[in-house]
Amino acid sequence: MKKKVDFLIIGSGVAGLSYALKVAQYGSVCMITKANEDESNTKYAQGGIAAVMYSPDSYEKHIKDTLIAGDGICDEDVVRMVITESTDRIKELIEWGAKFDKTKSGEYDLAKEGGHSEHRILHHKDNTGFEIERALLVAVHKHPNIEILDHHFAIDILTQHHLGEEVNSRRPDIKCYGAYVLNLKTNVIDTILAKSTLMATGGAGQVYGTTTNPTIATGDGVAMVYRAKGKVEGMEFYQFHPTSLFNPGESPSFLISEAVRGFGGILKTIDGKEFMQKYDERKSLAPRDIVARAIDNEMKTRGDDYVYLDCRHFDKEEMIKHFPNIYEKCLSLGIDLMKDYIPVVPAAHYMCGGIKVDKTGKSSIDNLYAIGECSCTGLHGANRLASNSLLEAIVYAHHAANEAMALTKTTSFCESIPDWDAEGTHYPEEMVLLIQSMREVQSIMTNYVGIVRSNIRLQRAFDRLEIIYKENEALYEKTTISPKLCELRNLINVAYIIIKHAQERKESRGLHYNVNYPRQKEY
Ligand code: FAD
Ligand code: SIN
Repeated sequence: MKKKVDFLIIGSGVAGLSYALKVAQYGSVCMITKANEDESNTKYAQGGIAAVMYSPDSYEKHIKDTLIAGDGICDEDVVRMVITESTDRIKELIEWGAKFDKTKSGEYDLAKEGGHSEHRILHHKDNTGFEIERALLVAVHKHPNIEILDHHFAIDILTQHHLGEEVNSRRPDIKCYGAYVLNLKTNVIDTILAKSTLMATGGAGQVYGTTTNPTIATGDGVAMVYRAKGKVEGMEFYQFHPTSLFNPGESPSFLISEAVRGFGGILKTIDGKEFMQKYDERKSLAPRDIVARAIDNEMKTRGDDYVYLDCRHFDKEEMIKHFPNIYEKCLSLGIDLMKDYIPVVPAAHYMCGGIKVDKTGKSSIDNLYAIGECSCTGLHGANRLASNSLLEAIVYAHHAANEAMALTKTTSFCESIPDWDAEGTHYPEEMVLLIQSMREVQSIMTNYVGIVRSNIRLQRAFDRLEIIYKENEALYEKTTISPKLCELRNLINVAYIIIKHAQERKESRGLHYNVNYPRQKEY
C-alpha cells in the first residue's frame, strides 16, 4: 500500500507527540509507532523536566550547570537557546494538559538532581514521564489532522538509493521521501511517502545488558539514518544512570530516580560507609558520569555486586508523597525504605549522541528532521545534565515544526519510489539465531564498551561485533522482515557506531572514560 502525508512522524514519545501538535494545523500528519502508542522512554521518566521558573534560579545558572556537566564540548549557542526557551515551552506543556506538583503556597514544587546548582526540576510525583505522555496523547487524539498508527514498524527511510541511484556519504544532496513501514497487524510493508519526515525514535539502551530503557529502545532511528548515509555524532557518550535497582533477572532495570539523592539519599558501600567524598565535593549529587564511575570503581575494587542508597533518615510521609512508585516497588521486593538500604547499580540510560542536527532539528539529509533522544543537538556535550532531555525534546519540537511547516509548502511527493520487494525471502527457521546474537551484542557492549573502556577492549569489541554483523547481514538478505530481525540489525549498527566513535576519541571526556587516556584527577 502507498500512503501520502505532509508530515510523517516516526515515534510517539514526548518528541514526536509535541511536534505533531505543532505541525498538525498545517497539513496531514501520520505518526507511526512500533508498539502501543504510549510505549516509549518518555513513559518511564521519573525525576522530571528541568526549567528555570523562579529566582534565585536564573538562565545563566542553568546554562552554567549544563556546560559543566557536558565537560567542555556542549555547543554553547544550543545550550543558551534550549535553556532560555525552557519557561515558555513548559507553559505550553501545561496548556496541553500536563500537570506538575505544586507546594502548599501554589508554586511549582521544584526538585534538585545531580549537577544542578538550584532546585529546578518540575515533576509529577515520581512518574513525570507517564503524566507528560498521557497529557500529550489526549491532546493529539483530539486533533482531526493527526492519525496515529500503532504497531507500525519503520524499517528504513526512503532516499535516492531506492530509486536505484548511488548514495554515499560524500553525496551532499541525499533526500528523504518517507519510509518503508511494516504494519504489524497485517504483516504488510507499506510505503509512506511524506513531504517531511521526523525521526523521534528515542534511545538505544537495549544495546547494553543492563538498562533502564524499555525494549523499544533499540536505536532504530540512528541506524536507519546511518544506513542512509546521514551524519551521526557523539555516540561514544552513552550515559549510565548511577542508581538502578539491583534486582537480578528484572529487565529493564527499575530506576531509582536521581531526585531521591536530590532529596538527601546517600550512597554507601555495603559495609555502610559513605564513599562519594573521595571522588567529588558534590558527593552523591555530582554529575552522573562521575557518580556512575565512582560506583563502578567501588564495586570493582571491593568485589561487590552493588552499592547502597540510604534513605532511612527521610520523613516517611514526605517520602511517600514524593516517591510513591519507588516506595511501592521497593516494598514489593521486601525493601522498606524506612528501615532498609536500597541496593543499586549503574545501568545504561541515555544516548547523548545521535543523528546530527542543526538548531532547527534538520539532519544532514534533506527533508529529514530528528529530535529527542535519537538526535545529537550539542546540548549535552559529553554528558547530559539530569532532566535536560525532556526539555530538549519540547524545545526542538518547536523549532523543527517551524522549519518543516515551511518546507512542506515547497516540496512534492516522490511518486516513483517502488514498493518493498520481498522476493526470495522466507521466515526464519531458527529464531534462536536472532535471540542469541542479540545477547552476544549486549554482552560485548557491557563487557568492553561500558563505563570504563580501554583501547584493547574496544578493539576486541570491534572484532567480535564484525562476525555478528556479517552473519546478520546474510540472514537479513534472505529472511522475511520482522521487528526482531530489524531491531537486531539496528542494534548491531548502533554498537558499531558507539565502538567506532569511542575508538576515534583519543581522550577521556565526560561519559567516555578510557584508561589509556587518564584524566588529570584519577580514581
Ligand atoms: P521515546 O520517548 O523513547 O519515544 C520513542 C518512540 O519511537 C516510541 O514510541 C517508540 O516505540 C518509537 N519507535 C522507535 N523505533 C521505532 C521504529 N522503528 N518504528 C516505529 N516507531 C519506533 N529524562 C528527563 O529529562 N527527565 C527524567 O526524569 C527522565 N527519567 C528517565 C527515566 C527512565 C527510566 C528512562 C528510561 C529515561 C528517562 N529520561 C528522563 C530520559 C527521557 O525519558 C528520554 O530521553 C525521552 O523521553 C525521549 O523521548 P523521545 O520522544 O525522544 O523518545
Ligand atoms: C531520574 O529521575 O533520575 C532520571 C532523570 C534523567 O534521566 O534525566
